[in-house]
Amino acid sequence: MKISVVGGGYVGIVTGTCFARLGHEVTIIEIDAGKVAAVNNGQPPIYEIGLEELLREHAAKNLRASTSFASIASADCVFICVGTPPKPDGSPDLSFIASASASVGTHVKNRASYCCIVVKSTVPPGTTEKIVMPAVLKQAGTAGDAIGFAMNPEFLREGRAIEDFMHPDRIVIGSNSPRAGELVEQIYQGISAPVIHTSLSAAEMIKYTANAFLATKISFANELGNICKHLGIDVYEVMKGVGYDPRIGPLFLNAGAGFGGSCFQKDVSALVHLAKEVGEDPVLLQSVLCVNEQQPHRMIALLEGKLGSIAGKRIAVLGLAFKDNTDDIRDSRAVPVIRELLQKGAVVSAYDPMAVPPMQRLFPGIEYCSSAAGALNGADGCLVMTEWPEFSRLDKEFDLMAQRIIIEGRRILSCKGADGICW
Ligand code: UDX
Repeated sequence: MKISVVGGGYVGIVTGTCFARLGHEVTIIEIDAGKVAAVNNGQPPIYEIGLEELLREHAAKNLRASTSFASIASADCVFICVGTPPKPDGSPDLSFIASASASVGTHVKNRASYCCIVVKSTVPPGTTEKIVMPAVLKQAGTAGDAIGFAMNPEFLREGRAIEDFMHPDRIVIGSNSPRAGELVEQIYQGISAPVIHTSLSAAEMIKYTANAFLATKISFANELGNICKHLGIDVYEVMKGVGYDPRIGPLFLNAGAGFGGSCFQKDVSALVHLAKEVGEDPVLLQSVLCVNEQQPHRMIALLEGKLGSIAGKRIAVLGLAFKDNTDDIRDSRAVPVIRELLQKGAVVSAYDPMAVPPMQRLFPGIEYCSSAAGALNGADGCLVMTEWPEFSRLDKEFDLMAQRIIIEGRRILSCKGADGICW
């Protein structure tokens, strides 16, 4: 099939490249000419495991990028993959969705053949029906059945997005007609997964619900971990014993510094905003966010418990990315930690295998080191913020510290003497 993907961000690039892998003719439409050139040259504009190989295989063959919307005129399907960043009140900014829809509408005008417009961006329930459909149809000048609409959320984890795309747990397709839903299902032919057909707004809600539930599991594990810490119980032993119950499951019960990344905080906040709009008081979801906010500060409190005042002390922060295998620092738990350390007058030395450049833009004034040993050298205390596998091998490097005070926010170290946030 001929597929146009509007938006060459993280989701658009992965989606477009994987559709090319499935044998479709794909054009990624992106306003950033630099990204367009990179894709056409087979170079990934983002870091994602396996993306480079796939781009090299398909770029300039059945995968192209362009700043022009022209490919839409002959596309069988158009995927909208633009960003929905959070506004200060927690609700998502849908202006990119609205403008992308209007542009798509202009380019499907006077089409002879059927095409389907699919929203992949995470949007509040009702967005496809109330914003995307009217904007497309107004510009297209048609109210008829010549255009179908669908909502097909993504469940891609950063660092495993290609694997998640090619081997999903399920494919959710919300649509406004069986024809639209079947067309989207055909695109995924070759991928073995249950396909769930729903209404447009149920598909939109599934994405928020999935992320809210996963975030809830993490905050639940963290709250239990905080209690266990007082009682001298290892919460990882507890969750291992609990997770064997299939009603609970073993995943996403790793207690620690809390969740970061581009989705959980943003999507739970959006759901809280949505709940309030309809007159609900979402106490559980608000608590999920509240536990997550407090976790990083608990690490500093633990540190102060051992060091006393941290003013003027050199504190090593190991791990800046929101999780391992990415250079993404969005909502990373290292951010509030560094902010509080600086507020309290500490001298921060930081190390991360990949995420130093973006953190340098946020905190230009702290010392960035090229190794964990460099950051630990002479430090009075150390906070481990990211589960990078290389940290699991650290031991004698901690002897470089002025005193071996280690607070672990992720269960990754194998050496003795570290104090875990929840264990
Ligand atoms: C997440 C969802 O998993 C994905 O389905 C969705 O589409 C986008 O958001 P991602 O943000 O890439 O993916 O990362 P994920 O691996 O889910 O981890 C998110 C955060 O939770 C990380 O900061 C991680 O360290 C933390 N986490 C995860 C925990 O603290 N404990 C856990 O048990 C699992």
